Amino acid sequence: MRDLIENRDALEGIKELPDNSIDLVIADPPYGLGKDYGNDSDRKEKHEFLAWMEKWLTLTIPKLVDSGSLYIFTTWRYSPEIFVFLKKHLIMMNEIIWDRKVPSMGGSTRRFSSVHDTIGFFAKTEKYYFDLDSVRIPYDEETKKARTRSIFVGKKWLEVGYNPKDVWSVSRLHRIHSEREEHPTQKPIEIIERMVKASCPEGGVVLDPFAGSGTTVEVCIRNNRHYIAFELNRKYYGIIVRRAQNAIKEKASVFNFDAKANIKLVTPRNHAVQKFSLFTDSSKTVTSR
Ligand SMILES: C[S@@+](CC[C@H](N)C(=O)[O-])C[C@H]1O[C@@H](n2cnc3c(N)ncnc32)[C@H](O)[C@@H]1O
Repeated sequence: MRDLIENRDALEGIKELPDNSIDLVIADPPYGLGKDYGNDSDRKEKHEFLAWMEKWLTLTIPKLVDSGSLYIFTTWRYSPEIFVFLKKHLIMMNEIIWDRKVPSMGGSTRRFSSVHDTIGFFAKTEKYYFDLDSVRIPYDEETKKARTRSIFVGKKWLEVGYNPKDVWSVSRLHRIHSEREEHPTQKPIEIIERMVKASCPEGGVVLDPFAGSGTTVEVCIRNNRHYIAFELNRKYYGIIVRRAQNAIKEKASVFNFDAKANIKLVTPRNHAVQKFSLFTDSSKTVTSR
């Protein structure tokens, strides 16, 4: 099962996936903070929320291949409980701080304003896939120049760039950003692309159980990875399908194939399913906006 976008409850969809079939899970579930996704998914009390998190994580973990990884977006409010649970089943590799670069505009007066997401990066086994070179950040010319002393000459890291480290400062999406969609918690392509490139081999399968506006799907198509995405909200599902179609069309124009001939629509009885072909046979990758 691959290249699937389904407008349905992730818990139902995950159950149907074969065990040991997913290379990477990118999970960006409701935060338990009462956000409005056009449904009640983020209006659970603490205990109900944590029980629900454990339920879908328990279903999801066996789906990972032995070299597989899981990234999960959380906030400081629930990351301690969620990480303790996950550490019983997986190996914790990193706690990544996504600094959303929120400008200081007042906010809290009785504590410090919270301006980050906490992302857990977990691996299924010690044999997990990780391609650091694909996500290194190039040094700017100034830094390179400053490192011309003989002790730095020929250093691989100076040529290939540096490890992105575990604090990722990437602006949250504003209306002025061209990739912005009508979704309250859309993630920037830059963040998701780093996870996909580092933790899923080309041709591998990425599962996004809470796909939202479809950032993961778009990144997968542009980077030659397969995807499986679930989203409860029909309007957001429509956004995902549009983004996927656009990414495929863009790829078609680069590689000179007929995109229409490669988009297959399937609509089962009780929910809409959209299937796309993905082209992994090409050596080139369409770059993100
Ligand atoms: C934090 S948002 C994901 C945002 C996404 N990463 C993006 O970049 O646009 C969480 C999404 O999960 C969806 N959702 C909530 N409960 C769900 C469920 N049980 N199954 C599938 N989707 C669900 C919500 O409608 C919401 O769009």
